[in-house]
Amino acid sequence: MRVTTTVFITGASRGIGEALAIEFGKMGYRVGLFSRNKEKLDQLKVKIENKGGEALVLPGDVRDINSIKNAYEKIEEIWKFPDIVIANAGVIYWKKSQDLEINEVHDIIDVNFSGFVNTVQLVLPRMIANGGGQIVGITSSAAFRGLPYLSIYSATKGGVLRYLEAIRVENKANNIDVTAICPGFINTSMVNKDIPSWLPLLFLMEPAECAKKIVAAINKKKKLYIFPIPILLLAKISPFISDSVYEKIFIPLTRWLFTKIK
Ligand SMILES: NC(=O)c1ccc[n+]([C@@H]2O[C@H](COP(=O)([O-])OP(=O)(O)OC[C@H]3O[C@@H](n4cnc5c(N)ncnc54)[C@H](OP(=O)(O)O)[C@@H]3O)[C@@H](O)[C@H]2O)c1
Repeated sequence: MRVTTTVFITGASRGIGEALAIEFGKMGYRVGLFSRNKEKLDQLKVKIENKGGEALVLPGDVRDINSIKNAYEKIEEIWKFPDIVIANAGVIYWKKSQDLEINEVHDIIDVNFSGFVNTVQLVLPRMIANGGGQIVGITSSAAFRGLPYLSIYSATKGGVLRYLEAIRVENKANNIDVTAICPGFINTSMVNKDIPSWLPLLFLMEPAECAKKIVAAINKKKKLYIFPIPILLLAKISPFISDSVYEKIFIPLTRWLFTKIK
């Protein structure tokens, strides 16, 4: 008998999470849809079912441990414990650090770091006990250097990248695959929100195309997947550039190149 794979996605109500849910639904996976906006999740469930897939609406907030616990219990009760957990929920504020309100600072930390870690910590012991599974974290190409206008955002994305690296090593013998995904610009509400006018959205990708690439990386059980290729090159080069070069040349050069290439 074929056993259906169950996947749990946080931040499924729109953007990358929604596109991933649709893609997994088309592939015949059972998809647990987690986010705060129940109405949007209900609409997405109908969309997935109309394409022949199966979905479960699990409203909740990644900052609230009990709502994640409840969601994992419900998915197990109705289907089975998730085989794949995707920590995708995230928020962004495109502002200089000094312009961020303290509640905005905590929103970024609470969702992108604490919420991410809540999602993974609450599933990991059980996955290990079940004999294995896959943890997927949607971090960012902003994880590799501190980016202007995204100071707290890049700190949280760098933080979760290190966290994923550590749990991957810790659980090598436990049949737990850990996949870190670092996308470039994806055309979602996140990049359309308060973005500085000087920043051209170079190599901007649509969520559906992005989801196909992420699903392929998950299926290949990649450890780290940075895309598209120009962003991969920038992400790989930037950590080796000295701080003074980074400050004086790299940021203005990248900004200039972006304007030229666009
Ligand atoms: N778009 C890009 O260019 C880009 C690039 C690199 C990395 N990423 C990362 O990709 C992930 C998805 O981003 P996106 O572009 O798809 O953004 P988006 O369109 O703004 O979607 C964000 C998702 O996160 C959910 N969310 C926010 N706060 C939440 C909370 N407290 N609890 C549960 N869910 C919450 C939202 O749902 P509700 O509002 O319904 O809760 C929504 O479904 C993020 O982690 C982001 O940092 C995006």
